[in-house]
Amino acid sequence: MFKILKKQVLSPGVLLFDLEAPRIAKKAEPGQFVILRVNDEGERVPLTIADFNREKGTITIIFQEVGASTQLLGALNEGESILDLVGPLGKKTHIEPDMGTIVCIGGGIGVAPVYPIARGLKQAGNKVISIMGAKSKEILIFEDEMKAVSDEVYVTTDDGSYGIKGFVTTALQQLIDKGVKIAEVIAIGPVVMMRSVAEATRPYGIPTVVSLNPIMVDGTGMCGGCRVQIGNESKFACVDGPEFDAHQVDFKGLMMRQRTYKTQEAQEKDHVCR
Ligand code: FES
Repeated sequence: MFKILKKQVLSPGVLLFDLEAPRIAKKAEPGQFVILRVNDEGERVPLTIADFNREKGTITIIFQEVGASTQLLGALNEGESILDLVGPLGKKTHIEPDMGTIVCIGGGIGVAPVYPIARGLKQAGNKVISIMGAKSKEILIFEDEMKAVSDEVYVTTDDGSYGIKGFVTTALQQLIDKGVKIAEVIAIGPVVMMRSVAEATRPYGIPTVVSLNPIMVDGTGMCGGCRVQIGNESKFACVDGPEFDAHQVDFKGLMMRQRTYKTQEAQEKDHVCR
C-alpha cells in the first residue's frame, strides 16, 4: 500500500498527491511514469512522475478527474493509501550538459511532467525556456515551480485571461521569429497540442520530442496496448518511450486508438458517479 502524504487541489478537477514510495523515488528520473491501481477492481492508470524526493522517499503525481478511475483516486484523502504502484517505468528523458537552449512546453496538466524535465535540463547547465499553456488563468498549474527552473517563462491562455492570448505554438513561433537558436523542443500535453508543436518546428528542422500517453495495461511491453507508430516502426510507449521524435509520430493513429474505449469509459464513469 502506498500512503497519500499530501493532497492538494491545483485547479478545478486537478489534484496533486505526494505518495510515500521510497523505492520508486530512489530510482525515478525525469520523463518516467508509474502505473497505479486504486483498488483491486480498479483499472491500471499510467501517470507521469511530476516530482520525486529521494531524501523524503516520496513521489508526486498530478492527475485530472476525467474518468471513473481518476475520480476514485481523487476521492481518497491524506492518510489513505492506494493499492499498488509500479515504477518507475519507461525511459528517462535524454538530458546532458551543453545541449544549448531547450524549449520546454507544457499544455494543461502536461505542465506537471514537463517540470522535472525542465529542472533536470537546468541543473545540467542548459538554458531552459518554458512555455505553459492553459485554456484560462484559473486552470494554469505549476507557474511558480516552472519559473524556478527556467531562464524564461511564457504563459499562453486560449481566452487571453493571462499571458499571451493564443496557444503554446503562438509563443513558440514568436521565439522562432525572434531568431532564438533552439537546440530542442520538448512538448507534453494533449495530443492535438503535441501535433501542432511538431508541425510548428518541422519546417525549421528543430529536433522535437513529445511524451505519448496511449492506453496502457501492463506497462512492461507484454500486452501491446500502448502500441504507437513511429515512422515505419511500431513501438510500445511503455518500454520504448514514452518520449519519441515528434516528427515521426503518427498522431492520427494515436488519437484513433485513444478513442477505442470511449463508450466503455463513459459507462464506467456513469456507474461510479451514481
Ligand atoms: Fe502493455 Fe505497453 S502497456 S505493452
